[in-house]
Amino acid sequence: MRNIVILISGGGSNMLAIAQAAQREQWQDRFQARIACVISNRPQAGGLAKAADMGLATQVVDHTTFALQSHPREAFDSALMQAIDSHQPTLVVLAGFMRILTPGFVVHYQGRLLNIHPSLLPAFPGLHTHQRAIDAGCRFAGATVHQVTVDLDDGPILAQAVVPVLPDDSADSLAARVLTQEHLIYPRVLAQLLSRQP
Ligand code: GAR
Repeated sequence: MRNIVILISGGGSNMLAIAQAAQREQWQDRFQARIACVISNRPQAGGLAKAADMGLATQVVDHTTFALQSHPREAFDSALMQAIDSHQPTLVVLAGFMRILTPGFVVHYQGRLLNIHPSLLPAFPGLHTHQRAIDAGCRFAGATVHQVTVDLDDGPILAQAVVPVLPDDSADSLAARVLTQEHLIYPRVLAQLLSRQP
């Protein structure tokens, strides 16, 4: 069986879309793949309950508990790597995981680490992507699934979805429109990768 580990920080709607696609499309039978664990860096992340409702294993590695260490970011990433590696994952899927990862972490999972970002990369890496797209006068916005490399929101693009920016859009209304597309492209990319990998 090939294990997928999903990392979340918040509502987990992308995680849920992936879990539902895995169930609906029978990834277990077709790709010998299953979601082994959903890991959150925030104990109060809404996605944890959604994952549990789907019957998925969940785990919390709370980044705030590393704050007093001499190298908090490295200490957190190392604990996170330990939690992830206990599942020997084929794919590590960042789904609204709002942490900047250390180069050591990224290199460790190189080639099997994916992210979804709510903009048409390389436009608008980082935060507040929807407001920035509106402020820049963009007529289109969207989302990008990409492989993760050591540079933030960089790395080979695997899929993008485009939506219009409407004249009276707020960041929230645009985010909601983009999110519906995220839920389509992320599971699709994962299914494609799993169908190709031996
Ligand atoms: C999604 O829009 C995702 O693209 C974005 O956070 C949201 C998470 O929603 N990710 C980033 O901004 C990563 N830098 P979700 O928790 O409902 O999936």
